[in-house]
Amino acid sequence: MSEKARIKVNDNGSLRITGEVELIDAEGNGFQTKKSFSLCRCGHSSNKPFCDGTHRKVGFESRPRAK
Ligand code: FES
Repeated sequence: MSEKARIKVNDNGSLRITGEVELIDAEGNGFQTKKSFSLCRCGHSSNKPFCDGTHRKVGFESRPRAK
C-alpha cells in the first residue's frame, strides 16, 4: 500500500511534494522525480516546473494559511 502524498506550501517559496505522485506535463509525459521534490510557486525558476531557489533572489512573499 502506498503512502499518502503530501504537498506543503512553504512560506515565501516552493510547494514541497512528498510521497508517491506522478508529475506530468500538458501532453501527459512524465517528469522524472524523486520521492520528495519542490515545485516552483513564484514563477521565476529556470527549471520549471521545479523550484531552483530563485524565489529567494526575487524576494517572493507568500505565506498562506489553511483556515
Ligand atoms: S518557488 Fe522556488 S524558484 Fe520559484
